[in-house]
Amino acid sequence: MIIVQKQFKRILVTAALPYANGKIHLGHLAGAYLPSDIYVRYQRSMKRNVIFICGSDEHGVPITITAEQEGTTPQAVVDRYHALNKSAFEQFGMSFDNYSRTSLPLHHETAKEFFLKLHGTAVLKEKKDKQLYDAKAQMFLPDRYVEGTCPICQNPEARGDQCEQCGTFLSPTELLNPRSKITGETPVVRETAHWYFPLGDFQKELEQYVRDADKRDGWKENVLKYCRGWFKEGLQDRAVTRDLQWGVKVPLKGFEKKVLYVWFDAVLGYISSTKDWAQHLGKPDEWKKYWLDDSTKYVAFIGKDNVVFHCIVFPAMLMAWNRHSNEKYILPENVPANEFLNFEGQKFSKSRGWGIDVDEFLAEFPADTLRYTLTMNLPESRDADFTWKDFQARVNNELADILGNFINRTLTFAHRNYGGKVPATPNFDRLYRKGKGATDDALLIEIGTTADAASHHFERYRFREGTQDIMNLARFANKYFNDNEPWLTIKQNPERCAMTINLCLQTIRSLAILLEPILPFASATIWKMLNLKGSPSDAGWESANSISELKESHHLNQPEILFTKIEDTMIEKHRSQLPIMTEPKSSNSTPPIHDQH
Ligand code: MF3
Ligand code: ZN
Repeated sequence: MIIVQKQFKRILVTAALPYANGKIHLGHLAGAYLPSDIYVRYQRSMKRNVIFICGSDEHGVPITITAEQEGTTPQAVVDRYHALNKSAFEQFGMSFDNYSRTSLPLHHETAKEFFLKLHGTAVLKEKKDKQLYDAKAQMFLPDRYVEGTCPICQNPEARGDQCEQCGTFLSPTELLNPRSKITGETPVVRETAHWYFPLGDFQKELEQYVRDADKRDGWKENVLKYCRGWFKEGLQDRAVTRDLQWGVKVPLKGFEKKVLYVWFDAVLGYISSTKDWAQHLGKPDEWKKYWLDDSTKYVAFIGKDNVVFHCIVFPAMLMAWNRHSNEKYILPENVPANEFLNFEGQKFSKSRGWGIDVDEFLAEFPADTLRYTLTMNLPESRDADFTWKDFQARVNNELADILGNFINRTLTFAHRNYGGKVPATPNFDRLYRKGKGATDDALLIEIGTTADAASHHFERYRFREGTQDIMNLARFANKYFNDNEPWLTIKQNPERCAMTINLCLQTIRSLAILLEPILPFASATIWKMLNLKGSPSDAGWESANSISELKESHHLNQPEILFTKIEDTMIEKHRSQLPIMTEPKSSNSTPPIHDQH
């Protein structure tokens, strides 16, 4: 397919706002967060104007259920998980420019303004609906507050939105013998009024939008497939209000006891978080450049279960606003959603204790080892798997044996034989050797082309392949060191030896720059070992193909161990901690359009 690249002045990157209702796990990182962080770090290194926006999604029924179970308030729940997740992200090296929260007044104002605009311009339609009502608790019951018998498989504990046993999506009124999860009473059917967003009115425009953006930026096949499926089904009206206490209050008379549907407010969290960022910057209008100017490229990173909200619902909301305003929001230029990451062959499951939380993982292993293993296993086009064995192999055989070893042996050699200085290569041309094995010119070609090769993949959201290219440079250079046998040439052919070590040091500098998006911590350490000023990303992506940046006689610092090998016992310990599972293996299924209330 021909990609027509549009020239953009700046880039806005968002990553899905995680629910502040639990700790993030490795699956979340592999879905939206690591890819977005690699992309942003790469763009910064390319000297592009980019901001990176995220925050906690702090509304929704599961949060109130957690609060009830724990005998506390929803605010206390979100306060706790917001802090935990923010800190886990920091430890993992996420480089957000802002990490906000949807419980902030600024967010509530933003969401209300949006709702009122769509209400005031008659985009939204009011409908009366029959819903289950708990007379004892005096409230309408959201789907998840109702339990009963599944009409399909007779599971007596089916939830109002879904039967977990047979997977069927249900509505609460379909349940046999429904009961309220709050009081245990049998609920009654009552009428309630809600506001609906007419998605169907936007279908044509949405189809056009997806086609055009795909033409310009090359959307992922999995994302296009989901969109086509929903378009084929036909888009339906969707309620954007709910009978609940916790959330953004519906700003209309007679609707005081209702809140906005969590997804209606959550996607607007990207905008309010950008406003929050601008306020902290002391330039409160700065957010407008990123949202209201079509020379901005907006990329929304998410996991596959969020596709419908980012490719259909959110764009339709923005279109609706744009139809009735002079201020026009830009739409995502791309929504590079990943599939799911499994853990040791099965779905992550908090309730079944399957998986590992990020903070737990990082208490034991350095963030870069996790970043690398996840990058190499990103579920970019199909579900992928994290296993402890693979983690150990990646760290030991790739990070330690190839990357770490190459850097360590080069620096150690320079310290032993050249007084810790970059050796001079006065006869560069004469020594430029062609022949068998990894020759100078072959290494020079690798250094000169890897940045572009990796760029090509990163610009297309293919982080695994881009990283493969960069690791191949390390692999190649490690072989070059071996083939050139500097431990022999130091005596037999000193000029040749100086050439070898000089080129290896130049390669290390390139690797520090190219690996910074993947391994930010190790990359900073390498930069320090090379005794270079600023940071690898200050030096800039494009300078990674240069071999003249480390001047001769430049002083190097002492090498440090970059990656420690992981012992079998560590891996065995974690494997033996996994619960015994009898569940069937997870499948590569299409995410349904279901309501996360
Ligand atoms: N909280 C949702 C989830 O974890 C993602 C929300 S993304 C946003 O699946 F756009 F709504 F913010
Ligand atoms: Zn069932």
